[in-house]
Amino acid sequence: MKKKGRKIYIFDTTLRDGEQSPGASLTPEEKLKIAKQLERLNVDVIEAGFPASSPGELHAVQLIAETLLKPVICALSRMLPQDIDACRRALEKARRKRLHVFLATSQIHRQYKLRKGKKEILKMAVECIRAARKDFDELEFSPEDASRTEPKFLQDVVRAAIDAGATSVNIPDTVGYTVPAEFGDLIATLVRKNPELGKKVVLSVHCHNDLGLATANSLAAVLAGANQVECTINGIGERAGNASLEEIVMAIEIRKDFTNCYTDIKTREISKSSRLVSHLTGMVVQPNKAIVGRNAFWHESGIHQDGVLKKRQTYEIIDPKKIGLAGNHLMLGKLSGRHAFHERVKKLGFRLNDAELTAAFRAFKQLADKKKYVFDEDIEAIVEDLIVNIPETWKLDYLRVVTESGCPPQAEVKLQYKDRVQSSQSAGDGPVDACYRAIEMIAKSGASLAHYGLQSVTSGKDAQGEVVVKLQVPGREVTGRGTSTDIIEASVKAYLFALNKLSAEPFSRGTSEPSPV
Ligand code: KIV
Ligand code: ZN
Repeated sequence: MKKKGRKIYIFDTTLRDGEQSPGASLTPEEKLKIAKQLERLNVDVIEAGFPASSPGELHAVQLIAETLLKPVICALSRMLPQDIDACRRALEKARRKRLHVFLATSQIHRQYKLRKGKKEILKMAVECIRAARKDFDELEFSPEDASRTEPKFLQDVVRAAIDAGATSVNIPDTVGYTVPAEFGDLIATLVRKNPELGKKVVLSVHCHNDLGLATANSLAAVLAGANQVECTINGIGERAGNASLEEIVMAIEIRKDFTNCYTDIKTREISKSSRLVSHLTGMVVQPNKAIVGRNAFWHESGIHQDGVLKKRQTYEIIDPKKIGLAGNHLMLGKLSGRHAFHERVKKLGFRLNDAELTAAFRAFKQLADKKKYVFDEDIEAIVEDLIVNIPETWKLDYLRVVTESGCPPQAEVKLQYKDRVQSSQSAGDGPVDACYRAIEMIAKSGASLAHYGLQSVTSGKDAQGEVVVKLQVPGREVTGRGTSTDIIEASVKAYLFALNKLSAEPFSRGTSEPSPV
């Protein structure tokens, strides 16, 4: 289906400006992995790197250029012959290539960094663009620190760059200084003075996030006539980062009624792209980050949860499926209501009658008072605790754990089974492993540990630790939970709880009458 409105090109610079994030260095192979995902995301341009900066960087751009088929592969260069030559070599095998040259134009950069006057800057830009255009069909020019450049001088430089043959002009807010209305005005003025911008010549913007305005500034520029946005996955980049791709794309998409624009991004690949970049760069996404943060689709307030269950759009402007997530996330906590709790219980496969639901909801509220989030395992444990009376087949009689630097931890465990107490000892990779090995020497369940999770459920030095384990035997999986101020004891309790469930009759979900609530 043909999309309506003006096409906005997405120029992804995760692998160049994004990689300039402190501590986010990537190997050429990792860069290639991300580039392939960007191709699946269907970005228009990938800025793959700055080839003159190192042989490794040149190799990474080469690898991407010779592998990818669809997007334009772009490489960054100062206005220096050796930089342009490195880009030429790096992009040799690209199907579609673009050279991106930049030169600072603001007064502060001219005076202190370049020690050059306006005339010299103008001459340098024109000569470099003219010469490089012979080798590159697509050439993008960026007047660095454009938003702090005197407006008249910026107009002169942009005009001269177009006349010299630039096929894209990028206006960077290099230090994240501008504000949306001001930046929108700047872009509108440039378009008025140079009517080919945004049409025959691509008009791009590149906003940094020092004031947290990168997305807003980019959007203001789009509304004023820019037709390319430079951005990064998760908004990573130099200092406070760049405009985030997912925010720009989803703002344009969700508000197309207002922007009358579209992008060709396959939004269902957004979530996967975010996870890959976070994983490979080691840069954790803040939980409340728009679109891709862990909490972006979690509703905690009872009123919100109730609304979302009745009609998703009451509190959710984006369908999570649109960005590749499975569904909305109602995070159960102390503010959750009975309706949301009951929905989750049903989703987990339990059918409770009214009295059972009331008792389970009371236990849930007690737990939620102690811990911020109540997970599915907690709810399973609550329901199973209440509804099924698990006999304490295996009971902890005695536990001793010795840890000593340089020696593997040792555990001694005594378990009561019916009227008999049995004991065993084991070493392990850690104290918990030692305990579990010792228990298994007695219980011989043959179960495998499919999950182990530990968290503190209260705060302070005497916090209660809560352990949740999942044990698996062929055809069956059970969850066990244990709490104690001693995390080793909590671990043992959780394991024994799960063992007792395995020893009991399998609990069949869906046997009770469905509750009318
Ligand atoms: O922020 C900036 O000005 C840049 C340029 C190289 C476009 O990254
Ligand atoms: Zn930048």
